[in-house]
Amino acid sequence: MHLTDYEKAMLDGDHGRAKARAMDLLVRYGEALGAERLVEVNNVAGAFNASSPSVKHIADKGMDHVYSELNLDSDEVVEVPHMAVNTCQLITGIDNDNWKLQGASEEMIGAQRAGERFLGRRGVNMFATCTPYQVGNVPVKGEHCAWMESSAVIYCNAVLGARTNVEGKESTGAAALTGRIPYWGYHLTENRYGMHLVQLDVEVDDMMDWGLLGYYIGEIVEEDIPVLDRVSHQPNLIKLKHFGAAAASSGGVEMYHIPGVTPEADSVDEAFGPRKVQQRFRYGPAERRETYAKLQSATEDKIDFVMLGCPHNSLEQMAIIAEMLDGKKISSDVALWVHTPRALKQVADRNGYCEIIEAAGGVVMSDTCPAISRRLPPGVRVIATDSAKQAHYLPAIAKVQGWFGSVRDCVDAALTGTWRGGVS
Ligand code: F3S
Repeated sequence: MHLTDYEKAMLDGDHGRAKARAMDLLVRYGEALGAERLVEVNNVAGAFNASSPSVKHIADKGMDHVYSELNLDSDEVVEVPHMAVNTCQLITGIDNDNWKLQGASEEMIGAQRAGERFLGRRGVNMFATCTPYQVGNVPVKGEHCAWMESSAVIYCNAVLGARTNVEGKESTGAAALTGRIPYWGYHLTENRYGMHLVQLDVEVDDMMDWGLLGYYIGEIVEEDIPVLDRVSHQPNLIKLKHFGAAAASSGGVEMYHIPGVTPEADSVDEAFGPRKVQQRFRYGPAERRETYAKLQSATEDKIDFVMLGCPHNSLEQMAIIAEMLDGKKISSDVALWVHTPRALKQVADRNGYCEIIEAAGGVVMSDTCPAISRRLPPGVRVIATDSAKQAHYLPAIAKVQGWFGSVRDCVDAALTGTWRGGVS
């Protein structure tokens, strides 16, 4: 792999042992991928904190150990310097305020907070959300990034037109210290063109419909790049957030084009560029109904947990939920957890949304989610969620039955304790 003089100096240890280990990792990683060089990045979103029982043995030895082993894949324990570039923490395992409700121990939350202090002082911004683009980390078109988290990566590539592959703990750990990542995959223009054409023959408008469409597309194109044609309604942030998260769950979609909406294509021709259309798909009423049916893994109508906010909710979503719950009480048999980034929770608090949700019996959670934390209220058997991603993962992870539906159907389930959702 070709390295610049500065990169060689980092590799040789001229800028400290941590950067040397980081460069060693990036060179090994890049060569395995066939990358010819590295590219400069000034925007890293990764997972740095250690708050799960599985890493407790390392956490006990201190954060230099954690970072060396988990973020640099290094047996040598290095002293972690300040991050070289803008870096943020994605979602974590525990809610800093609601950790008891999650069943976390004093020891675990203590480890998480100590990790935050260590990392924060070294320049890791503690956004603690899977949606950094909702709380101020909004890379511009063409900007090279190193992001983890599939739902964030697809938003970064397709909606923002910035460039990242789905990175891991180690590569983001190394990128944060060096400002470099292998130049391959979605960093290259030639890899960003469309591959399959998906023609919409049914209206796709609300958030649930965008989630269904994403789930359908992920299944049919797997890791390829779809181009959506005949989109009848202009989508916004929350709809594309749900669309991308779903497509990255049922498949491994990291990039897509909606000509006239996403920034790299104004027309179908431009979306495909030099590539030919490989396959054509049609998404109509039957495909919509079949996808909805696939996302239902529950047979019992009586539910005991409602999870909203995967990916983490925007303020607009918090307002909608608060409006639906205003002056009402959720069923005493149901737990309702509503997830939003902590930075947005502060605004939701000031707007009074959290007070309304909590007065109804719900809990507003930040920093985490059930799929990442693997922590649900005790005894949960049947869940309802407005997220295709959560409906895809949670039944397998937590061995529960799951209903998927609109926000309105999920709030209704929380209020009545019964699933009455459906699709026409
Ligand atoms: Fe975010 Fe957890 Fe969903 S990380 S995208 S809320 S599974």
